Amino acid sequence: MSDTRAVAAEVLAAVALRGASLREQLRPAQAKLPDARDRALLTALCNEGARWWLRFDKAIDGLLQQPLRKREPTLHALLVLGLVQLEILQLPPHAAVAATVEATRALARGGFAKLVNAVLRRWLRERDSINTQLDRDPVTRSAHPRWLIDVLARAWPEQADAILVANNAPSPPMLRVNARRTTRDQMLAALTRAGCEAQPHPFLRDGVALASNTDVARLPGFVAGHFSVQDGAAQCAADFLDLHDGLRVLDACAAPGGKACHMLERAGVQLVALDADARRASSIHANLDRLGLHCDVRTGDAGDPAKWWDGKPFDRILLDAPCSATGVIRRHPDIKLHRRAGDIAQLASEQRRLLGALWPLLARDGRLVYATCSLLREENERVAETFFSAHADARALSVELPAGHKAGAGWQTLPGEGGLDGMFYAVLTNDR
Ligand SMILES: C[S@@+](CC[C@H](N)C(=O)[O-])C[C@H]1O[C@@H](n2cnc3c(N)ncnc32)[C@H](O)[C@@H]1O
Repeated sequence: MSDTRAVAAEVLAAVALRGASLREQLRPAQAKLPDARDRALLTALCNEGARWWLRFDKAIDGLLQQPLRKREPTLHALLVLGLVQLEILQLPPHAAVAATVEATRALARGGFAKLVNAVLRRWLRERDSINTQLDRDPVTRSAHPRWLIDVLARAWPEQADAILVANNAPSPPMLRVNARRTTRDQMLAALTRAGCEAQPHPFLRDGVALASNTDVARLPGFVAGHFSVQDGAAQCAADFLDLHDGLRVLDACAAPGGKACHMLERAGVQLVALDADARRASSIHANLDRLGLHCDVRTGDAGDPAKWWDGKPFDRILLDAPCSATGVIRRHPDIKLHRRAGDIAQLASEQRRLLGALWPLLARDGRLVYATCSLLREENERVAETFFSAHADARALSVELPAGHKAGAGWQTLPGEGGLDGMFYAVLTNDR
C-alpha cells in the first residue's frame, strides 16, 4: 500500500489505540513510500496525529452518531488525520478532504468514503464552534492527559502553560558536531553550501541548531560521521562530566549511545557503555562505527554491578536513568498517550535503586552525573534528596546553565527554553 494517508492511519491507530511506539511504527512505514515528499508528509501526519490525538479523537466522537474507535480503529485514526491536515498542517481543505476520502479505498474501506467525506465537511462548516468548545477543557485545549497537566501545574506553576505550548510546537532537530572528524565552522560551511540553514547554538560548544526539519541522513557529512542528531539538553551531560584524557568512565544506561559517543568525541576516555536491553545495546555499535569511535559495550543491569563490574573504580559515572521522558514530548509526542500517572512512583523507585547501586563504584573525588529527561520533581530532585539523606559521603557540586532553573541540588531545563528539551542534571561527588 502506498497511499500516504492510509499508511499514516495504520501507524496512528497502532500508536494511539494499541500502545505501539511511534518511532518503531514509523520506520517500516517509511519504507512503503518511495517518494521523499510522501515520507515527509507521513512523518508530519503521524507526529501531529499523536501530538493532537487527545483533541481530535474527542472531536471525531462528537461528529459521529456511533463511535468508530473500537469497530474501525484505522478509519477513526484516518478521521483524526483529516482534522490534523485541516487544523494543524493547514493543507488546502478541498485537497485534504479528497485525499482522505481516497485513503478509505486504499484501506479497503471504500464503503466508508461517504461517511468520511460527510464528517470532514461537517467539521469545515462547524469548526469555529467546535474549536471553541474544545478549548474550554484543558485536556482537549492542550491535548495532554489530565494527570500530566495537574502534575506539571504542581511542579512548575509559573511555567506549566508554557511547557504545554512548547510540547505542542514541533522543533527542528539539533545536531552535535563530532570534534574528532571536523570543526563546527567547517560543518556549518558544508551545511550552508548544501542550502541548509543552521546556526551555532549560543552556549553549547558542539551544538548546531537547524532552522527547519530536514532529512538529516541526507545532509553532507552524516555518513562520514561528522555529526549526530542530539538535543542540546542532552549535550550538556559531557560538560557536566568534566572529561579529560585517560579517565575511566561508566555510562550506566547508555543505549543508543548518544551521550556515550559525545564523551568519546570530547576526550580520550576509557568508556564502559552498559545497557540492560541487549537489542538497544547493539544499537550503540552502529553509532560508534559511523562516528569512528570505540568503547567497551556491555549488557547488564546497572543496579547489579556484581554481574558486570571488574572491581576497578570509575572516575566518572553517568546515570542517564530510565524515566517518564516528560521533558522530550515535543520530539516524542506519543509519550502523552503512553505514560500513566501510576508509572512515576515505580520509575522513581528504580532511579533510586540504580543511583544507590552505582555510588560505590565511584573513585575517590570522582563525579557522578545523575540525569533524566523528566520534568517531574519526584524523578529528579526528590531522588537526589533521598540519596543525599542516605549517603553522608555524597555532596552536590553546583550546576548551572544559561537556560533553565535551579531544582534542589540540580538543574532543570524546560522544553523550549534556550532551544533545549527538558532535562534534569545533578552532579555528585564524594568525600571518601
Ligand atoms: C534515557 S535512555 C538512555 C539514553 C542514552 N544515555 C543516550 O544518550 O543515548 C535509558 C536507557 O536505560 C536503559 N536501562 C533501563 N534500565 C536499566 C538498567 N537497570 N540497567 C542498565 N540500563 C537500563 C534502557 O534500556 C535505555 O536504553
